[in-house]
Amino acid sequence: MCGIFAYAGTENAVPLLIEGLRSVEYRGYDSAGISVIDSSGEIQTVKRGDHKASLENLAVAAGESQLSGVVGIGHTRWATHGEVNQQNSHPHASSDGSVSIAHNGIIENFIELKDQLVDSGFEFKSETDSEVLAHLVGNRVAAGSSLREAVIGAAGQIKGNTAIVAVSKAEPDVVVGLRVGNAGGIVVGKSDHAAVMASDTIALLPYTSEVIYLEPGEVVEIEHGDVRLFDLQGSTITREPVVTAQNFEAAQKGNHPHFMSKEIAEEPDAVQGAMRGRADFSAGTLSLPEISLTSEKLKSIDRVVLTGMGTSLHAAMFGASVIESLARIPATAENSSELRYRNPVLGPNTLIVAVTQSGETADTLAAMEHARNAGSPQGVVLELEGSQATRIADFTLPVRAGQEIGVASTKTLIGSMTTLLELAVVLAETRGVIDAVQVKTIVESMAELPSLIAKTLELNGQVSELADRLSKFEDLLYLGRGAQLPIALEGALKMKELAYIHAEGYAAGEMKHGVNALLGDDMATVVAAPQNDLYEKMLSNISEVKARGGEVAAIATEGDEMIGRVADHVIYVPKCPELLQPFVTLVPMQILAYRTALALGRDPDKPRNLAKTVTVE
Ligand code: M6R
Repeated sequence: MCGIFAYAGTENAVPLLIEGLRSVEYRGYDSAGISVIDSSGEIQTVKRGDHKASLENLAVAAGESQLSGVVGIGHTRWATHGEVNQQNSHPHASSDGSVSIAHNGIIENFIELKDQLVDSGFEFKSETDSEVLAHLVGNRVAAGSSLREAVIGAAGQIKGNTAIVAVSKAEPDVVVGLRVGNAGGIVVGKSDHAAVMASDTIALLPYTSEVIYLEPGEVVEIEHGDVRLFDLQGSTITREPVVTAQNFEAAQKGNHPHFMSKEIAEEPDAVQGAMRGRADFSAGTLSLPEISLTSEKLKSIDRVVLTGMGTSLHAAMFGASVIESLARIPATAENSSELRYRNPVLGPNTLIVAVTQSGETADTLAAMEHARNAGSPQGVVLELEGSQATRIADFTLPVRAGQEIGVASTKTLIGSMTTLLELAVVLAETRGVIDAVQVKTIVESMAELPSLIAKTLELNGQVSELADRLSKFEDLLYLGRGAQLPIALEGALKMKELAYIHAEGYAAGEMKHGVNALLGDDMATVVAAPQNDLYEKMLSNISEVKARGGEVAAIATEGDEMIGRVADHVIYVPKCPELLQPFVTLVPMQILAYRTALALGRDPDKPRNLAKTVTVE
């Protein structure tokens, strides 16, 4: 979703702003723009609302207009209010052109504020909610406030979570950034003669690896190599930077045609990353040193509620299934946008486990805040360290899959699943449900996960053939049971988001209760059916589909001859303990969606209408 990059230094900011925006474009965007203060002290703005071509077109337009200046702000927009076009792109200017702002978030009371501004004679050039802020800040600057005071004052007038960056003609060396609530982060860093801020750490890495994350309710001023932090009352805040572990190379495509194919290929490493320092394969032990709760506290937990959105919700569902089966604690997974609003019964004995790649998903953060207020201990399983979720949770379990750029989550999911499996084992051992011998058996089997996944990646060719076939359908059904249900749901989600094929994920046992009415030769069914206790039930489900003329593709265990007699297509995954089966059935589901997207000419890295980081609800 919307990205921010700002620079205050001594070099020409224009190419730097465009490069900064390139590194945040993966979040999802449809428009881009920059404002710089030129050598005569005027604010010059160039923007484009050309969907995916916006950044390229912006770079060309900025070059043609010979735009330059050493201080500026940039923004990639993901439209929420008003269509995708140049006027609605950020930055937005105040009426007198003395201030320019870029904004992430939604201004919930914008209609009321806009009406007041229009009544007072302000003219709006866009349909966005954000332009309100430009006028509110401009007004205050015109009345004599400093840019910082004006941004704080304007933020106080709006309702909703917000991140803002702003420049003013009156203070041509300064950029102000502000964060209120959770509308995406702002991270700040500096090099010798420049200071930079952005919505993502990755954008700062060409400058520094020492960064400061703004907390909600904080403001920052950057000027040349200076970074000054304040609270909303204007008091100075002193905070040492932290060293980020993210690295720039990890965010490049390398030899891969797409980030998605690179990130799927990195899944064996992602799993390894999630086990590093936790699983001791020679001793056969497992620990999660990051858990800050005492063993007494862990023993007092009588319920685990896992939460997340989209793919992270599917990871949470997998987590609930392994926590309940291994640790014997009642565990459920719930969509954060539901959890946050339904006034759930939570308390000190309910452990909340949030799952989020970005750590910035608005609904997930809100659910976490709700749980914190209810006094529940909580942990977060997350990829992007330093993000807001780490500051709400009592403890963070980093996934360590490495930065994921493709909008579709792939390696983060498999890393999150590994981490959740580890959590289940640790909870089970701490509570005395399994003993050291059982832990050793699980750890020994987990040692094989990277090679099992690497073997599954070799299925690329076979999966491509299946993808060609499935690309002919407009409707697909994905079925699974038990721990394979989240995998089936994820397979369907991936197919929808990447190939734009309507795909339903279903618990196979539900079919007779409605879905069977859809079966026929115009809908193919993908079935996760590895050999386990539920295998025979899945065979019956496949037969039901076949009996109604449906075509079936099964993801099955190698050596299973039976399934080839009922399904039309079979993708064989390596044999492994049942606990690990969801990992090996997941990978072909991901490759299938990727290959189908390619067969249909879609861009798998940037699916339409979707954003990597969803900072608004
Ligand atoms: O950053 P998060 O994991 O919290 O994001 C949640 C979802 O938006 C995300 O998992 C989304 O469903 C996937 N990128 C889809 O592939």
